[in-house]
Order: sequence, then structure tokens, then C-alpha cells
Amino acid sequence: MFFKRTVTCGELRASDDKKKVVLNGWVHRIRNHGSIYFINLRDRYGITQVVVEDDASAKVRAVCSSLRNEFTIAVKGTVRKRPKTMINKDMPTGAIEVKARDIQILGKCNVLPFQIDEETSASENLRLQYRYLDLRSFGMQKRIALRHEVVKAMREYLSARDFFEIETPTLIRSTPEGARDFVVPSRLYPGKFYALPQSPQLMKQLLMVSGYDKYFQIARCYRDEDARGDRQLEFTQLDLEMSFVQRDDVLTLMEGLFNYVFKKTMNVKLPKKFRRIAYKDAMNLYGTDKPDLRFDLPLCEFKEAVMESSFDAMKNVIGDKGDAKAIVVKSRYAENMSRKVIESYGEIATSVGAKNVSERGKMFAYFKYSDGALQAGCAKYFTSLTDKIVSSLNLENGDLVMIVADKTWKGACSGGGVVRSELGKNLSLADPNKFEFCWIVDFPLFSYNEELGHWEAEHHMFSMPQDRFIDTLESNPGEVLGDLYDLVLNGYEVASGSIRIHDPELQKRIFRICAYSDESAKQAFGFLLKAFEYGAPPHGGIAPGVDRLVMIMSGQTSIKEVIAFPKNTFAVSPMDEAPTYLDEKQLKELSLIIDKKDQDK
Ligand code: AMO
Repeated sequence: MFFKRTVTCGELRASDDKKKVVLNGWVHRIRNHGSIYFINLRDRYGITQVVVEDDASAKVRAVCSSLRNEFTIAVKGTVRKRPKTMINKDMPTGAIEVKARDIQILGKCNVLPFQIDEETSASENLRLQYRYLDLRSFGMQKRIALRHEVVKAMREYLSARDFFEIETPTLIRSTPEGARDFVVPSRLYPGKFYALPQSPQLMKQLLMVSGYDKYFQIARCYRDEDARGDRQLEFTQLDLEMSFVQRDDVLTLMEGLFNYVFKKTMNVKLPKKFRRIAYKDAMNLYGTDKPDLRFDLPLCEFKEAVMESSFDAMKNVIGDKGDAKAIVVKSRYAENMSRKVIESYGEIATSVGAKNVSERGKMFAYFKYSDGALQAGCAKYFTSLTDKIVSSLNLENGDLVMIVADKTWKGACSGGGVVRSELGKNLSLADPNKFEFCWIVDFPLFSYNEELGHWEAEHHMFSMPQDRFIDTLESNPGEVLGDLYDLVLNGYEVASGSIRIHDPELQKRIFRICAYSDESAKQAFGFLLKAFEYGAPPHGGIAPGVDRLVMIMSGQTSIKEVIAFPKNTFAVSPMDEAPTYLDEKQLKELSLIIDKKDQDK
């Protein structure tokens, strides 16, 4: 029988003086000062100093001499106040120590692959390989705790407003939803597959047809796509849907929810309402539909100036349909920027969206304003327009102007947006302690896929076009705005949603525009279309990404920092080595034959 803890390692204070206690935990550090041992004993609640003095029994002293970092032990002892000079103000338990009478080893520990500290400098792969050790660090524990609190607050907020938490299946039929599906072979039906949901989108819409007018779920989603900084193959959404609502009902509910969650978990007060920015304005001003509003630095219209200038190369890039954006870097930042640094922004801007140099359609240029004249870079082409440019861009002495031009409006915006966000990062313009939310609304419903040669849904095919476009869907898809909304926080898209289509005829029109024949739409989405024929209510919803949200709340830039057991960038879990091969027996049971050529790749 082990000595079971009576207190945790984080709770003893001066007022507990003389108490007899039992502690269980991990040896965080052990120091041997001659005949005295100091053991910092750790659990997820904190660290308590244990002292073994020279009056301890020979057995206890023998145990102490065999202890190493990260052994799990049990300590029986008595609390005593530390002398005033020995109080450690940095530790909540720093006013006391526990004088040990007996110590048991509960679990030994091998040589550690890395030290367990607040944050570790070990490589990511090593951390993921020994994730159970990495999770012991206070840094990871704080983030896992925050994640728990955030999800708890979400459940509290929604449950108090009549929402039902309903689980939807994770073995569903494969339906095209944007990314690639992960699939699971069926043993009972050889050749058939289940798919893991990319999100519970269709199921939650069916729940609306069933009359569960306020639904939410902390839902696991699976997408076979590249794992980047803010993406994982499997991730968690707060998935939510409501019936008999319009756009503003969803937005208002979410503003209330985020206010509640931030106050409850971080004691941060958010504005009651979040700014709303139309997609087009966001692109024009910030060059992205997920702007970081913690700093200003807007893009400025610059096409007219280029067209009036003698800068023929840039005019050619702009052509009939293109555009140009300027970004003004104030003199206090510009004075330290070498030509090489300025051109590195150009390199980044022109490579956006291009897989290689030959695909680049963008052009970057710059000039400075000093001593009343435009100077350096491409200044010579704009000399005759100096006064006009100085007044339209509000230039002051020493300012630097960077210009990005592209053959499309969107390309010019996104090139400028990349420069803006790089400047923000490199000049530390964003306050890391600020949380700046905004809604992006009025998104285009469709975008044209040049490669496939047809229109596609910008978000997904179930989003409602705005009323005024209903008659011109087919004749002018590029102009159609949808009842879509994204919630953006500090430059990340944290949630996305829409008012949905609930009329089967309108839904069929959208499928057709997205190049689904009636037959293929019926095959993929027939069950949804059929359900809509049995009294479907108007409905809409949204899904915040839980991992991404907690990542931003905890000041991290990698989503892996807030997930207990994530995959690495190569879609592998270094700890259990998933994915792995199946043995012949399993393959046979599933009627699967593996092409060995693929296996050896
Ligand atoms: P969407 O695909 O935009 O919408 O996803 C909603 C939110 O989920 C998060 N997210 C991710 N987080 C981590 N890793 C990923 N690979 C990943 N992909 C998305 C983001 C994103 O804003 N069914 C719709 C929602 C709806 O319309 O209600 C959907 O899934 O924070």
C-alpha cells in the first residue's frame, strides 16, 4: 500500500504550520547539501520543498540517495514555517517546507530525454515523442487548463440559453466539403468506406429539420490536408446551429459568448460589440480577410498615381483589370531599413500565390520622401506627381512608400496584405496582450476555380446568397454576396459560419452553379435535399475553432501547444508512430490490397 496524499504540492501555506501531511508527486529537483537533502516535489498544483535532515532514518536516507529527477514518490512529514530569511516569494508554497519522516518510491524514471521545465528547449519532435513528459511542464499544464476552462465556459454559456449539446456520428458517408476526407474501410461491406466528418455541417442542419432549434457540440473534425502552424488533421470546433434566426442573431450570440469566455477564463473585458468589416473593405484596407487590427498601417489606393506616372512596366502589370496598393512606412521605422531589407519585403510580396518565380504576376517597387522630394527606388517615374502623392498619402519627411501591383485587384490587395503583416511582425507593431476581434461580412458566395474551369463555393455550398442576388445567381455568380461571416482575432480566422439555404430548389441551383449535375448532387447530398422537403426551418450557425482560439488566448503561434497529443508537420504522431501499416490478417478482413509500390515510397 502506498501512502496516499492528504494534500497537493500547491496548497500548503504558513497557516498549515505543524500539520502532519502526505504528499505524492514527482521529484522536480533534488539537492544534497552535506547531510541534508532538499527535494522540490511537483504535481500539477505546484511545488513544495521537502527537507530530509540528518536525524532521518538510515532507510529514508538510502531512499534519498537513490532518487533522481522525475521519480514519483510519496512523502510523509510535518509542515514547518521557513525562517524569515529563507522564505521564497516566487513560490506560492514558499513560506513553508515539509520535514520528511518517511519516503516511498512509487515509480522510477529512466534518464530523461529533456529536462521538465516551465518551457523546454527540446526539439518539437522529441517533445512529441515523449509527449507524456512534455505535458508535465507547467507551460503545457497551464495551456491544457486554459483549454478546459474555455470549453467549460462555452458549455455554461450555451446551456444557460437553452442549447442542447448533441453528439453527431463520426462515421459518416463521404461528402465533398472542401478538404480531402479521411476514410475508414467497412469490414461488413467490402469495398465500402465510412468517412470521418470534416465538420458536423450536414448533421447539424438535419438537427434543425428535426426541431432541435438550438444545438451545439464540442466536435472533432478531420481533414486530410497539410498540417501548418494553425492547422491540424484532427481538430476541435465549437459547432453551433440555430433555427428561426437571421445573421445578427448569430453574431450577437457569439459576441456574448466570447465576452463570457474571456471574462471567465482570463478576466479580460472585451467590447460588447465587435467591429464589422465588409470583405471588400478588409481586402482594400488590410489586404486580407483576416486582418490583425492590433495595429493600423492601412493599404492605400495607388492605381491612379501609377496610371498617371511614367512607370510603364508597372502600368503593364496592372493592365485592364489590375490594381496597385501603397503602404506608408513612417520615417521612425524607415530610417533603419536598408535597401536589402526593403527589397526582402518585395520578394515576399511578389511570391504570394506563386508556386515558382515564373508564375509571379506581381510587381513591387518603392520610393522615399525626403527633403521635399521623392527619392530612391522608382521615384523618378513619379516626380511630376510629387505634390499629389504627398497629400494623398499624407507623407512626412523620411517616410518610405512601398507599392505592390498585380494584374488583379485581389492579387494587389493580398500582396500588400503580406507586406503589411510582415511589417507588423518585424516592427513589433502588435501589442501581444491585446485581443482585437472583428467580423468579416458580405463575402462573395462563389469564386472561380481557374484550374477546374468552374465556380466553387467560397465557404461551403449550403450558405445563403443575400436576397438581392437571388435572381442573378446564374447570370452573374462573381457578383453574388452571401450571408456569410467570419470571426477574426489578431489576424487569425477563429470562426466561420453562415445563414443556410433551407429551400431544396435554391440548394439545387447552387449545386448546379458549382458544377454538380442534378444526378451527382443527389448522389452526394440527396439525404439533405430530401430532408428539406419535410418542412425545413430557416437556420444558420457558426463554428469557432477551439484549438486556434486557445492558441491565441495563450499567446502561442503553434496550435500544437494547446493540444495534448498532436500530429507533427508530417502528419505523424512521433509517440505512437501513427499512421502504421496493418498486418495481413487485418487487411484481409477489410478486403484491402495494398499496392507495394506506394508502400515503399
Ligand atoms: P470552417 O471550415 O471555416 O467552417 O471551420 C471553422 C473553424 O474551424 C477552425 N479550423 C481549423 N482548426 C484547426 N485545424 C484545421 N485544419 C482547421 N480547419 C478549420 C477555424 C475555422 O474558422 N461547417 C463550417 C462551419 C459553419 O458554417 O457552421 C466549417 O467547418 O477556426
